[in-house]
Amino acid sequence: MPPQLKTLLPLLAVFICIFLVARHFLIPESFGKYGHYRADSMDETAAIPINYVGKEACAECHDTETAKLASDLHSVLSCEICHGPGALHVADAEKGILLKPGTREFCGTCHSINPARRTEVINQIDTKEHHPEKDNCIDCHNPHAVWELKE
Ligand code: HEC
Ligand code: HEC
Ligand code: HEC
Ligand code: HEC
Repeated sequence: MPPQLKTLLPLLAVFICIFLVARHFLIPESFGKYGHYRADSMDETAAIPINYVGKEACAECHDTETAKLASDLHSVLSCEICHGPGALHVADAEKGILLKPGTREFCGTCHSINPARRTEVINQIDTKEHHPEKDNCIDCHNPHAVWELKE
């Protein structure tokens, strides 16, 4: 064995010891219980409160808006994708603050031109060029009124 290696060996042994001790303290207790992950993370995830309730829950009280949303174009969307999570509001209608999302910026999250999106799936406009004379998109396209306009 070359002499350089001989001097390095103790150093290597020290590193391995440090690694093993550190590993012992750093790996969470429940790691490996079921597999190569921390078992406690499942309970922690399950304990996160659910904030979304789904479309049917909204329809119970807002049948008018639900019917109007059937503009057949936005009808595929959930209410909460635009209005935000609704659990608080469903529990207490006065309390839950829901978004009223009609701004150029908000609608642009789905409709502003983006080469990664297919126009066949979703129509896109340049939010800076498309009718900039109005501040808000809903001045012309109200998701709850398109249906009426069509008739
Ligand atoms: C138990 C009945 C009930 C359910 C269920 C319900 N709402 Fe409401 N919602 C109300 C009432 C009542 C108001 C009016 C409250 C007010 O004006 O203070 C309201 C107001 C609103 C408003 C207008 C808020 C504003 O500032 O003018 C929006 C938007 C809304 N609801 C969306 C939803 C959505 C989305 C859902 C489903 C996640 C939903 N609601 C479920 C009863 C309900
Ligand atoms: C594409 C986005 C979008 C979706 C999806 C959507 N909304 Fe709305 N909603 C809006 C906008 C924008 C307004 C504000 C209209 C306004 O200010 O005139 C609004 C207003 C409302 C209001 C308040 C009406 C008022 O007179 O103040 C209610 C209630 C509401 N929506 C319920 C719903 C329900 C229930 C659903 C699902 C069935 C839904 N919305 C889905 C965008 C949406
Ligand atoms: C979560 C994504 C999403 C959001 C947010 C959204 N839309 Fe849409 N929108 C769609 C989809 C999907 C369609 C149906 C496919 C299509 O025609 O582009 C659609 C269709 C439309 C159309 C009809 C386009 C056509 O083909 O003639 C208009 C106009 C429109 N949206 C305006 C709005 C406005 C205004 C807002 C903001 C209040 C908004 N959208 C918010 C997804 C969205
Ligand atoms: C002054 C009224 C007006 C405003 C404000 C407006 N639009 Fe439009 N939009 C129209 C008209 C009219 C059309 C029909 C096609 C055209 O003339 O450009 C249209 C078409 C569309 C289309 C379909 C495009 C296509 O290729 O068929 C989408 C998507 C759309 N608008 C989204 C929006 C969004 C998002 C906003 C807000 C950033 C907005 N619009 C603001 C009047 C308006």
